[in-house]
Amino acid sequence: MVNPFLYAAQVSLLLALSRGITAHPIARSTVWETVTVTTCKNACVPHPTSSSVTSVTSGCDDTTTSEVTTTSTSETSTTSSSPTCTSSPPPNNDDFRKRNYDTIHRIYNLTIFPNQVPIITYGGAAVPDGLFANDTSGRISPVGNFTDFEDSIEYFFALPPIPQSNKNNAAFSRFELAQFSSECPEVAASTVYLYTSVVNPGGPDDGKLITILRQTGFWKFNAKGEVENYDLDLIEIDHFISELTSTDYDTPEAQAELIATTCMTQALRCVGPYQEYESIEQCIDVLTNQKKFGSFTNIWSDSVVCRSIHLVLTITRPAAHCPHVGPSGGMKCVDYPYLVREFDDERLWGRTDLFRCPGVPAY
Ligand SMILES: *[C@@H]1O[C@H](CO)[C@@H](O)[C@H](O)[C@H]1NC(C)=O
Ligand SMILES: *[C@@H]1O[C@H](CO)[C@@H](O)[C@H](O)[C@H]1NC(C)=O
Ligand SMILES: *[C@@H]1O[C@H](CO)[C@@H](O)[C@H](O)[C@H]1NC(C)=O
Repeated sequence: MVNPFLYAAQVSLLLALSRGITAHPIARSTVWETVTVTTCKNACVPHPTSSSVTSVTSGCDDTTTSEVTTTSTSETSTTSSSPTCTSSPPPNNDDFRKRNYDTIHRIYNLTIFPNQVPIITYGGAAVPDGLFANDTSGRISPVGNFTDFEDSIEYFFALPPIPQSNKNNAAFSRFELAQFSSECPEVAASTVYLYTSVVNPGGPDDGKLITILRQTGFWKFNAKGEVENYDLDLIEIDHFISELTSTDYDTPEAQAELIATTCMTQALRCVGPYQEYESIEQCIDVLTNQKKFGSFTNIWSDSVVCRSIHLVLTITRPAAHCPHVGPSGGMKCVDYPYLVREFDDERLWGRTDLFRCPGVPAY
């Protein structure tokens, strides 16, 4: 049934691969998106659009289309306003939009395989400066809350699938920042589509689309433009995971397999001072008989599903993450009431108005 040597071989392969890719960062070709920003010359809100086809203009007559990474959107012009742009902010006021857009764009770019591999291998040290504040914290539903830099960046960059981690050999191959708005320097809202495709260079199915993950939510920036807080939702992640893995986790067979895999893998990574279970058998017994299996619609719970997700992070920092996989759940895989998980902003951030631009009336 489950072969420990097979799992050991897979983990060694993953480590070898991670090192190889780190040494040669462009070892595999990745499909890059072309991002363009369509800007009204009289400085109305830029409309970032992303597609491989010609970008669509926003409806004003005087538009410029430019690569977002190379061109400033803060052009000024003396041309008269077109009807769709009459409520624009003054010229030059939209620099922060480009800054916030670029930051979010750079964050998602690092989730695209193999860009995240150095972060899986080296942790926070491999994250470029300027993306996250050192005290960043946030909530990602339905996964959990994250209260410091390492915690946050591991969620963002160590959880995205790598080809070796799923039956389809799939990873995020490109993304679209499909929706974006930033009304003030402190706050932005975005929706990203993460395209998930087979990575199998030379194989007949290389590049085949497996599925897409949608993440939507709000970001809060500090004065330096780094992400200080985030409140994001993974939409229908249960469907995403079942398509990614081609597995129906409602079946007893799939549940038993996930328990076995989790117990095998933690036994390889949570060793010495980080050991959580007496043996693989004891782990299987605890996860089968003392924990609910749970569901990917609510990963943040005292469940097998939660442990299987946090297991992914044990490769980066076993000291921090092995307890989450262990019997206690290490304060992460524990049951909080729904009203606390989703609504207790005061408890998580000490305030409730983080994602509101200054001057927006309180609720
Ligand atoms: C995305 O990341 C890769 C690897 O770090 C980099 O080479 C590329 O320029 C980035 N693309 C954009 C659009 O930022
Ligand atoms: C975070 O950065 C600030 C300065 O930007 C520094 O004063 C503080 O000590 C840093 N905190 C940590 C935990 O690194
Ligand atoms: C997560 O949120 C809960 C409930 O608000 C809180 O008690 C816990 O300390 C938070 N944990 C982290 C790691 O932020």
